[in-house]
Amino acid sequence: MLEKIRSRRSIRKFTVDDVDEKTVDLIIEMGTWAPSGINNQPWRFVIVRDQHIRNEISTQTRYSKIIQNAPVCIAVFLDHSRSYNYIKDVQAIGACLQNMLLTIHHLGLGGVWLGEILKNRQEVEKILGVPEGMELMAVIALGHTTEKSGQGNRRPLSEVILAHK
Ligand SMILES: Cc1cc2nc3c(=O)[nH]c(=O)nc-3n(C[C@H](O)[C@H](O)[C@H](O)COP(=O)(O)O)c2cc1C
Repeated sequence: MLEKIRSRRSIRKFTVDDVDEKTVDLIIEMGTWAPSGINNQPWRFVIVRDQHIRNEISTQTRYSKIIQNAPVCIAVFLDHSRSYNYIKDVQAIGACLQNMLLTIHHLGLGGVWLGEILKNRQEVEKILGVPEGMELMAVIALGHTTEKSGQGNRRPLSEVILAHK
């Protein structure tokens, strides 16, 4: 698990190969095993494969190429009808997204968490026709990849640990 956490990288280039339905369901299921406050499970998902719809969504972000070229995008929403505390619900959805990215990596696929698109979240919600009360949290683009995932870089612990008390 430690190796998987360290070696996961954002993957932004995909081959044309499809990702089958069972695999996408597994990725979402693993997302739903994330913890959530009072176990309220506030996440909702829209799976987008259709090229025309992906093209439409892609107009709402400067990362349009990623969405156009990924065989599958998963839009992740906060369901306000299930919300009990906004910050905690958003945190739970962050955990869900990370579970999904780790599953994608574990399966030998590539994926990336897209957040810049949130600047136009209402347009995306309209394009996807989600019910009232669904707030877009992120889009995960995923697929097969030939991209070599780099080493990544992180600040050393000495910079991020504020104190030992
Ligand atoms: C909240 C959030 C929003 C992000 N939004 C984008 C995005 O819009 N486009 C993109 O290419 N990557 C996006 N990323 C991916 C980050 O750029 C990436 O995780 C970071 O640079 C570290 O690289 P790594 O994931 O390869 O370790 C986002 C990541 C997070 C957690």
